Order: sequence, then structure tokens, then C-alpha cells
Amino acid sequence: MKNHSENIIPHQHKINLAARTIKKGYGPVLLWFTGLSGSGKSTLANAVEDQLFKRGFDTYILDGDNIRSGLNADLDFTDKSRKENIRRISEVGKLFVDASVITLTSFISPFRDDRAMARTLIGPKYFVEIFVDCPLDVCENRDVKGLYKKARNGEISNFTGIDSPFETPSNPEVYVNTHEMNLEECTAKVIDYIIPIIQSDNA
Ligand code: ADX
Repeated sequence: MKNHSENIIPHQHKINLAARTIKKGYGPVLLWFTGLSGSGKSTLANAVEDQLFKRGFDTYILDGDNIRSGLNADLDFTDKSRKENIRRISEVGKLFVDASVITLTSFISPFRDDRAMARTLIGPKYFVEIFVDCPLDVCENRDVKGLYKKARNGEISNFTGIDSPFETPSNPEVYVNTHEMNLEECTAKVIDYIIPIIQSDNA
């Protein structure tokens, strides 16, 4: 993407993240859920958000299928478009973090470099990578949206796990395996990891 920002001078606002954090009494994190289609990212993000919301935290979920219906409706599933998908989500996620919202992103985000870019852009102290692991054959058997069947039949191309790669996270902050752990266990593992970070005035 061509960068046209050379003559742009960003403003420093008086009400910044530090001010918002003091007002709220807690700091933001961005929970980056990554994994195959059907691995349970959105289900887990929803359960984690529910727990956080009930504890009084401000939260928001950015979800692949939702964002691809609006902001990113112009993007397909080529490597180039997936990269742009993650770049835009990272920029949006960065704004949400600056707004001091606990942000949950649920995207396959199959490429290691793109996830690393997201971490750098958002800031490593806010970025929590959660690998939602599940064997391909289990995701394919679940086939909640019927897309694996379509991909196997050749009706969809560039499908992650079938004819497009998923690069496994090498060092995620949180690892869950939705084939071996139930939703409650996965949710508790994420919550237990992030609560101390949020409550440490992470700003
Ligand atoms: S990503 O790879 O660019 O991060 P993203 O999470 O936004 O993907 O979107 C994935 C969702 O789009 C899947 O859950 C699935 O419902 C749908 N989808 C449609 N076509 C594909 C495809 N070719 N590969 C993967 N997911 C697809």
C-alpha cells in the first residue's frame, strides 16, 4: 500500500490513554484470537467478553465474518487480501486500545508475519496472542458453516487448511486446545491470564 502521510501531522489530544486509564481504574489489552475456521475463536471470544462485561469492563469484539461484511467487504482470501485484512484490523484495534477498550479480535490470521506486524503496531504490552488450536479434521467434521465441504468440492478456493496455509503460532501468550478442553476451561485460562494485566493499570 502506498503511504501518503508525509505531509500529515497528527494531533496530541489532551484526553489520552493515560487519562482514560486513570478514570477507569484499569488499562486495556487486545486479545488476538488466531486459529483455523471452526476452531472456536468466535465462540471463545464471546465467552471471554461475557465474563469481562459481567465484571464491569468495557469490551468490544472485532470478528472476521462481521468486519468482512462491512469495512473489509472489498477483500477476498488471496494472501495479499488477508494481509490487508489484518493490517486494517490492527489499525482499528490500535484505536480501540487507545480508547481504553478491552478489545477481542477473532480472525484466522494465518500468517506469522502479519501477526507479528499486529503485535508491533498495537504495542507488545497490550497484545495477547491466543492460539485457538484444534486439529484440521475436527474443524472439518464440525463444519459449522458448511465451508470445508465447499472447499473440498472445489467451490471455494484459497481455503485455510485445505489449499491455503495456516502458520502455527510459535510462542502465543495463551494456548487453548478446543478439542481437548471445554469452553469453560478455555475461557478460564484466558481470563486468568489477562485479569492481572488489566488491573495493573496497563497504560
Ligand atoms: S483471514 O485469513 O483473513 O484472517 P478471516 O478471519 O477474516 O480470515 O475470515 C475467515 C472467515 O471467512 C471464515 O471463518 C469463514 O467463515 C469465511 N471464509 C470464506 N472463504 C474463506 C476462505 N477461502 N478461507 C478461510 N475462510 C473463509
